[in-house]
Amino acid sequence: MATLQLREATIDDLALLRRWDEAPQVVDADPNDDWAWETELLRRPDWRSQLIAEVDGRPIGFMEIADPVRADDAYWADWLAAHPDHPARVSRAIDIWIGEADALGQGHGTRMLEAALVRVFAVPGVAGVLLDPLASNMRARALYARLGFVDLGPWRFGDDDCRVLWLSGADWSQR
Ligand SMILES: CC(C)(COP(=O)(O)OP(=O)(O)OC[C@H]1O[C@@H](n2cnc3c(N)ncnc32)[C@H](O)[C@@H]1OP(=O)(O)O)[C@@H](O)C(=O)NCCC(=O)NCCS
Repeated sequence: MATLQLREATIDDLALLRRWDEAPQVVDADPNDDWAWETELLRRPDWRSQLIAEVDGRPIGFMEIADPVRADDAYWADWLAAHPDHPARVSRAIDIWIGEADALGQGHGTRMLEAALVRVFAVPGVAGVLLDPLASNMRARALYARLGFVDLGPWRFGDDDCRVLWLSGADWSQR
């Protein structure tokens, strides 16, 4: 099996991430967000990791693992405020995409997410993981359902109609 590795993204990945931003499958999945790579790749706040996935040494995709409560863009703030009793107050939110079209649909995304989940749930006290696919992204949603994520319902983030998905640490450990 091909070797999958996750490494920290750096400013040296700027051109790569900008190219991936233009890939049709990435535009379709994330049409409205500006990731401001030129500034974000230069800082390492402790509430997030920005990771490049490499398969046999070739970069193919990106993941961000962030604390939704501490994130300074307050992306999740309205959802968290609307769900004050949800354990997502101690959680991580993950964004993921494969930038290289010829690397889609070969299991790499599943392995990337599984590796991220192992990292997340190795941190004591983390209750679960949030995802926010576009409601229209049925293939990604099917993948997340297969991994055990449950659908908490619709939510509008900016201009995007999304679904909020949740995987609890308890469900993950019973997989
Ligand atoms: C979603 C994604 C990370 C999954 O990684 P992957 O390596 O392609 O998926 P895997 O091979 O591990 O698993 C296959 C499943 O992934 C999903 N998938 C495959 N290609 C996909 C694509 N172009 N877009 C969305 N989901 C896709 C499907 O559920 C597929 O199962 P299916 O063939 O039965 O429909 C990847 O397809 C991708 O980056 N898609 C475009 C960006 C995106 O949708 N990101 C998620 C935003 S929430």
